[in-house]
Amino acid sequence: MTEQVLNLVVRKRQEQGEGVVILDLADPTGSDLPAFEAGAHVDIHLKPGLVRQYSLCGDPANAAVYRLGVLRDPASRGGSVAVHDLLTEGSSVSVGTPRNLFPLAAGASRSILIGGGIGVTPMIAMAHQLTAQDSPFELHYCGRSRQRTAFLDELASAGFAASVRTHFDDEGDAQKLDLPAVLGQPGAGVHVYVCGPSGFMDWVIEGARQAGYDEAHIHREYFQVEVDASGAGFEVVAQRSGKTVQVAEGQTIIDALATVGIKVEISCEQGVCGTCLCDVLDGEPDHRDVYLTDDEKAANDQILVCCSRAKSKKLVLDI
Ligand code: FES
Repeated sequence: MTEQVLNLVVRKRQEQGEGVVILDLADPTGSDLPAFEAGAHVDIHLKPGLVRQYSLCGDPANAAVYRLGVLRDPASRGGSVAVHDLLTEGSSVSVGTPRNLFPLAAGASRSILIGGGIGVTPMIAMAHQLTAQDSPFELHYCGRSRQRTAFLDELASAGFAASVRTHFDDEGDAQKLDLPAVLGQPGAGVHVYVCGPSGFMDWVIEGARQAGYDEAHIHREYFQVEVDASGAGFEVVAQRSGKTVQVAEGQTIIDALATVGIKVEISCEQGVCGTCLCDVLDGEPDHRDVYLTDDEKAANDQILVCCSRAKSKKLVLDI
């Protein structure tokens, strides 16, 4: 599937907290942008071969802008640094139309939104949407310190400010996130949403499981994942292309396929976005992504070839 790409401009740029830039992207003619729902992200085309996904953190009811919050991470593979360095006010940027892999559940009786650091971005859009739907929620925003944390003024002045709780590592115990208390008993229709650093997310997800939440009521979005490309080599047969290639130890399937001229569309290269999904015709994948659900992984009929590998000696893919 080829995504539609919008040519937008950076209408406004603000630096907040420590290393966070907040960008408002708009159509150069002032036209409305394609609608999105809370939890959606967009592909930002930074330069040839460098496409990164960022959650939309504005109010979905505002069709004039797509708002992003991006933390500069020098240790990243160049995406956030390019956003900070290239996207100045007035500059042009190619942006994919919004896609949503982290939607709000319909008909929730209550939503508990938990954002760690820059992981708060999709939660802000969710807070806007839940407010518009008159659906009860609370937003818990965890950060290292008040000084390093972005969006605080915006959240303090939002119409839903009374539903926001902040928690800082360097402030008193009384304000720290008491996860068991926040999660409480999983009442009917209560949904939990989490986004943030992977360790933080694992802690929240495990807490929700222990509190008795149904897996389908625990929603998560990973924005940064360490890809583990270790493991023995294996053979990949690209059935439709009629080609076979050996994937070496430490090599990704996409890199191996590229050596025989097979190009698979990719984006995040971290097993997060789902762009490189391929059907598996034979063999057993070793799933290393965070995109497929546990059930989808167990079915073993799909694989994300940017990061996953094989448990069997041979994988046959429908490409
Ligand atoms: S390119 Fe994003 S999951 Fe593979």
